[in-house]
Amino acid sequence: MQRPVILVATPMEEDLIARLEAAGEVRRLDPATTAEALLAAAREASAIVMSPLRPVDAAFLDAAPRLRAIAGTGVGYDHFDVEAATARGVAICNTPGVLDAAVADLVAALILALARRLFEFAAYVREGGWSRREPRPPLGHDVAGKTLGVIGFGRIGREVARRMGGLGMRVLWHDTYAEAPPDAPPAERRPLDGLLRESDFVTIHADLNPGSRRLIGARELALMRPGACLVNTARGGIVDQAALREALEAGTIAGAALDVFEAEPPDRADPLPGLPNVIALPHVGTATEETRRAMRELAVANVLAVLAGEPPPAVVNPEALARRGEAP
Ligand code: 8YV
Repeated sequence: MQRPVILVATPMEEDLIARLEAAGEVRRLDPATTAEALLAAAREASAIVMSPLRPVDAAFLDAAPRLRAIAGTGVGYDHFDVEAATARGVAICNTPGVLDAAVADLVAALILALARRLFEFAAYVREGGWSRREPRPPLGHDVAGKTLGVIGFGRIGREVARRMGGLGMRVLWHDTYAEAPPDAPPAERRPLDGLLRESDFVTIHADLNPGSRRLIGARELALMRPGACLVNTARGGIVDQAALREALEAGTIAGAALDVFEAEPPDRADPLPGLPNVIALPHVGTATEETRRAMRELAVANVLAVLAGEPPPAVVNPEALARRGEAP
């Protein structure tokens, strides 16, 4: 019998490759390979480990008839057509949980950086302002006693709330569900508009779906306090970027920290990432050695389980497995 082909289109440690080799023939692809090369390689693949930021649509799936699993190295799966995958019996796997702390740490760092004007002070020193005795940037603000609005109170949102509550912030949350889980840190629920009106910092932790696309537009930004800042480490599509740029230029809000953009990388002509009151990062919420390793381990475990006909540790469409007559 022919061994299943496992396509690995992400960086991957050799010991994890060896685990995959026990289950099939591993074919590695440069993570930056073109969409055409990925599609061509997928034709014979039974499983693919890939970035969840690369699109997979029905046409892709039709070109890969042997495919049983796509293991995204990330928690988000908005670039994958899950319905089309389910209809074809392809399991869409992800890596929830193992990355919560890394993303929450980055959000805490960004809130503190915005509050304490860290990037402005660092630029002041780097550009010689301190030695030339130029006037310093304005003072920052304490975070203790300020209000943090968390949009999307899932695992990552709750980790952020835990950290910032520990630093003395009052935390508000908004989600599509009404009850916070029993292990949630202290936080008060608000409707979206109320959260936007009351918060000094707003951080987004929703997934991107038709209900959350452009959830934060001109109307919502206008509800925010003039001194408030927006942090987005979730998905760029949740914010109307043109409206955000206008709000930041007009002083409707004071600042933003953005790790994600509607198009990544953003168009070089887009002024948003370069605005003086914006901290722009290249999608690094999970970018630590430890977390990326844990994500790859989970992605590999997902592939091995699907190929063995067992339930994978993290699958977003378990009904796809049932379609192939395997354990859900
Ligand atoms: C990316 C992410 O997967 O988990 C997610 O949803 O967006 C990130 O972790 C990662 O940057 C791509 O390799």
